[in-house]
Amino acid sequence: MFDVTTIRKDFPILSRKVNGRPLVYLDNAATSQKPQQVIDCIVDYYSNYNANIHRGVHALSQEATDVYEASRKKIQTHFGIAKTHEVIFTSGTTHGINIIANGFASILSAGDEIIVSQLEHHSNIVPWQMLCKITGAILRVIPMNQEGGLDMDAYQELLSSKTKLVFVNHISNTLGTINPIEFMTQKAHQVGAAILIDGAQSCSHIKPDLGALDCDFYVTSAHKMCGPTGVGMLYGKEAWLEKLPPYQGGGEMIDQVTFEQTTYAGLPHKFEAGTPNVCGGIAFGAAIDYLNAIGFDAIAKHEEALLDYATKKLLAIDGLKIYGTTKEKTSVISFNIEGIHPYDIGTIVDKLGIAVRTGQHCTQPIMDFFNISGTVRASFAFYNTTEEIDIFVAAVEKAKMMLS
Ligand code: ALA
Repeated sequence: MFDVTTIRKDFPILSRKVNGRPLVYLDNAATSQKPQQVIDCIVDYYSNYNANIHRGVHALSQEATDVYEASRKKIQTHFGIAKTHEVIFTSGTTHGINIIANGFASILSAGDEIIVSQLEHHSNIVPWQMLCKITGAILRVIPMNQEGGLDMDAYQELLSSKTKLVFVNHISNTLGTINPIEFMTQKAHQVGAAILIDGAQSCSHIKPDLGALDCDFYVTSAHKMCGPTGVGMLYGKEAWLEKLPPYQGGGEMIDQVTFEQTTYAGLPHKFEAGTPNVCGGIAFGAAIDYLNAIGFDAIAKHEEALLDYATKKLLAIDGLKIYGTTKEKTSVISFNIEGIHPYDIGTIVDKLGIAVRTGQHCTQPIMDFFNISGTVRASFAFYNTTEEIDIFVAAVEKAKMMLS
């Protein structure tokens, strides 16, 4: 039984005050809050079995290695990945994207094409621009429409035998749009292109089955799904990971090192140079356990209800416009009120204890498309309530009154 009151008790931060008011945390697309179960896991690691992994014969090192590798298996199972060594630990989504972009530098030739979408985060644009500069490849962009969806006709027209890689987010961090990744994967494969899915914003809302999806690469961050910052996951099909060169050189990623020649370790270690974020990797597994115990169906149902409730209440405010109105969207609302700067609304609601993000949300092309400088973005998680939305909407009304 999904009971939000009970769930909220797992999150110590949700009972604190900000600016003298109970915290209303609506910045979940930036990062999620952490349940006690994940915090306890971190404390337990540093209190009881902190050690470097894969390196020591001593008991602590073996214990830490076992728990870390068990976490990799949890991630594998959760995301529907066929082989454990197809799960690469990273420092987060951006790191995962850069591993692939770096790898494709040795694959692409001048004139090859990479397709991204207009809905991408800067971290999904800049690495490909850097890659194009090095290789002479060309960046093509799937245009968006007024609702904040992607133009699938334009996508199909962009695809050709020149396309080597398609890159798209599962869910837009700014608009909440859920992109048709199944269709996009099929179409990319029809022209022989690989596809990389950015799951940074979807992993807290949707449990993907990457085996069924058949994408070539998938990246995400633990901190968006109740885990710690500084750790994430790159999934790559085994054949691709074997083909791509390592991203960083160092310890752990080698087989033999001489001054004449070095050979690399097998997967997943080839892409995991240096001492990893051991605690982070273990806590990532704890976060996955926590979310699965609640259940992704229950999470989605609650978040859909919050989205619906908040959308109706916000639209009742005169002069308020929501950006991102596709039918398939998750619990993210970006909006502006006519004549008022989003930063000013964000500052006033913060004084009332409410956390939202304001600005471009690392998606300047979306702002340029709507010809705006930024938005106020409220993003809801399964631990938010309709009462919090009432407080938020009243605060926005107050801000409007003060700023008009
Ligand atoms: N990408 C994160 C956001 O959308 C930081 O806020």
